[in-house]
Amino acid sequence: MTRKPMIGQSISRLEGPLKVTGEAKYAGEYNAENLVYGYVVNSSITKGSISAIDTDDAKKMNGVIEIFTHENRPPTAWFDIQYADMDAPPGTVFKPLKDNIIKYNGQPIALVVAETFEMARYAAMKIKVAYIDEEFETDFKAKLHNERNPKKGLASMLKPPPPKPKGDFEEAYRNSYVQSSGTFKHGTEHHNPMEMFASTVIYQGKGKLKIYDKTQGTINSQLYVANVFGLKMKNVQVISPFVGGAFGSGLRPQYQLFMAVMASLALKRNVRVTLDRTQMFTFGHRPPTIQYTRFGADQNGKVNALYHKASAETSQFEDYVEMVVNWSNMLYPAENTLMESKLVPLDVYSPLDMRAPGGSTGIHAIEITMDELAFKLNIDPLELRLINYSNVDKSSDKEYSSKELRECYLQGAEKFGWSKRNPKPRSMKRGNKLIGYGMATGIWDANRLLARVEARMTSDGKVELKSAVTDIGTGTFTVLSQIASDELGMNLENVTFSYADSSMPFAPIQGGSFTTATVGAAVKTACQALNKKIFKKAASLKESFLSFAQFEDIIFRNGFLILKSDPESRISVVDIFKQLSIKEIKTTNTAMPNPLTSGKKAKAAHSAVFVEVEVDEELGVIEVTRAVTSVAAGKIINPKTAESQILGGMVWGISKALHEETITDHQFGKYMNPNLAEYHIPVHADIHDLSVIFVEEQDQFVNDLGIKGVGEIGIVGMPPAIANAVFHATGKRINDLPIHFERLL
Ligand code: MOS
Repeated sequence: MTRKPMIGQSISRLEGPLKVTGEAKYAGEYNAENLVYGYVVNSSITKGSISAIDTDDAKKMNGVIEIFTHENRPPTAWFDIQYADMDAPPGTVFKPLKDNIIKYNGQPIALVVAETFEMARYAAMKIKVAYIDEEFETDFKAKLHNERNPKKGLASMLKPPPPKPKGDFEEAYRNSYVQSSGTFKHGTEHHNPMEMFASTVIYQGKGKLKIYDKTQGTINSQLYVANVFGLKMKNVQVISPFVGGAFGSGLRPQYQLFMAVMASLALKRNVRVTLDRTQMFTFGHRPPTIQYTRFGADQNGKVNALYHKASAETSQFEDYVEMVVNWSNMLYPAENTLMESKLVPLDVYSPLDMRAPGGSTGIHAIEITMDELAFKLNIDPLELRLINYSNVDKSSDKEYSSKELRECYLQGAEKFGWSKRNPKPRSMKRGNKLIGYGMATGIWDANRLLARVEARMTSDGKVELKSAVTDIGTGTFTVLSQIASDELGMNLENVTFSYADSSMPFAPIQGGSFTTATVGAAVKTACQALNKKIFKKAASLKESFLSFAQFEDIIFRNGFLILKSDPESRISVVDIFKQLSIKEIKTTNTAMPNPLTSGKKAKAAHSAVFVEVEVDEELGVIEVTRAVTSVAAGKIINPKTAESQILGGMVWGISKALHEETITDHQFGKYMNPNLAEYHIPVHADIHDLSVIFVEEQDQFVNDLGIKGVGEIGIVGMPPAIANAVFHATGKRINDLPIHFERLL
């Protein structure tokens, strides 16, 4: 009767073998009869209009089928709604090929459709475009004086505005025993998942489409296509079984989807549009920001005044906002606070969520300011965090549903060997290299949304679950299968999880670290409902030992219903199906947070990060030689996939701190390094000893499963911990990211 629970097991990703053997098909790899290929032409100017576009030569070329521009774009429905997709910020969504107006460099202006991708790409070079240039503004730092408040909108539900000012910040700061302040500049970053954006549209006649799309939300892409092209939702099926990374870039439908659908409907053919690496830099990015902090503390290190302001770039057509400045008072319980968030509109495409949007920006500034405070007070940085520890989120005055951050600090410090740190900068050396130890705190929301799941048992006793949710490479469907397996009391082999199809029950876009909590809760609900249905069927059988039993008296094990009080009394589900001559038992259920109670507590995952850097002042090299991240994120369903999430976040944290930046040439308003040769990300040689600790954290409040999510908590604390380690090694505070070595000189 005993059964090893699957929750908590390190199961390898179930789709792993398909991926490593190349059998997993991605959106741009589906074959279809008479498939034709689209290649997108992008604007070479930044602002202005197209005065003429000459496609005659290109059209005459061998294999070219059609060229779409603003001049011959087939009519679209374009509800002039603001929110064309679930992640659209307030404003007006960008409409490819709408007219001849150019709003940003790289804007898609034409689609060439040809028999092969190569023909389409070659023909694209023969298109002659005449532009009328207008003056543009892309220089964030030069246009800071244009900053203004963000518009309010739906997107702010998960991204609340800064908390209201509290107490009297200026007075409290002035009277602080010690003050710490800083200015922090971050550059632009672009998502660079391995898989480029692609859509393969299968034309099924009469406005009916089946679309393989690279996306983080199948229903989101379905909504977009149905709205934009005036199609019925049920006639648009979006499938996305494998996603080669997205990191937020797939939270919005990208323009290759528009292009492929437009061409497919117009030509009544199967069409594929794939973007290339350079084109991956023509939509959405982490915006450049500038932040200002001023923290004040008393002589014991108690923080009593917090000021944090952020200005970030947005486009001229949407107000993309991140939650940058809300975190400090969630971490440190000061009574006097002042937070501001501003936007600077520029002639760029709208920024877009990138792993831990806002958090990875704001926490960098907060945790460096804290480090400086510790330095000025001559208090150990870890000790300063403990002095300011609170189980209450003072920004909302709500108690945390759980917060094992103290354990993160202690276990992380122990594993790292933090006690060996000599507090004096430049005091630790290895050979001719300076060694620095730095630490930082991390925090990320533990949100949950609404989702639906279908559970269906067939007469062979096997169960299939269905959800429209994607698995962007995180292990989502593996962990959801584990949850189902435990709830049903069945082996993993007897549970199938079908997903990433918009015709399946609703799941929101996959992101915000809320997917496992959101869909996991729905899996649990649906499996419970299925068990109840099976129980009722069993109890309805003649002379059943279950006739007088309650649902609670039964356990479900390996396809049997077993009476708890008398384990010999049992019946197999296969028997139930046989006796009743039925083929399946099915249920579809919704799970969502309780609107009456879910807002009563603060909910967040926490982390503590410890980093060792080695700085070679002669060669000009900074290396992260060791890092430990300890995480409190509630119940960890699968330690292996969860650890991979944290490791990935840590690698990205190293990248953000030391490597990654998109450079703009403001003379042209153009990104100058849109490729993986010049857009630096870490290679193996940059990554050394990384370790992850999950501390035990029980939380009955966040959801029935106690899940908080681990997608984003791994990145947030790394950049400040690295910057703090660099300060400890060299005595120099570098507040800007990425940290360029020359700034140390
Ligand atoms: Mo994440 S930036 O919510 O995909």
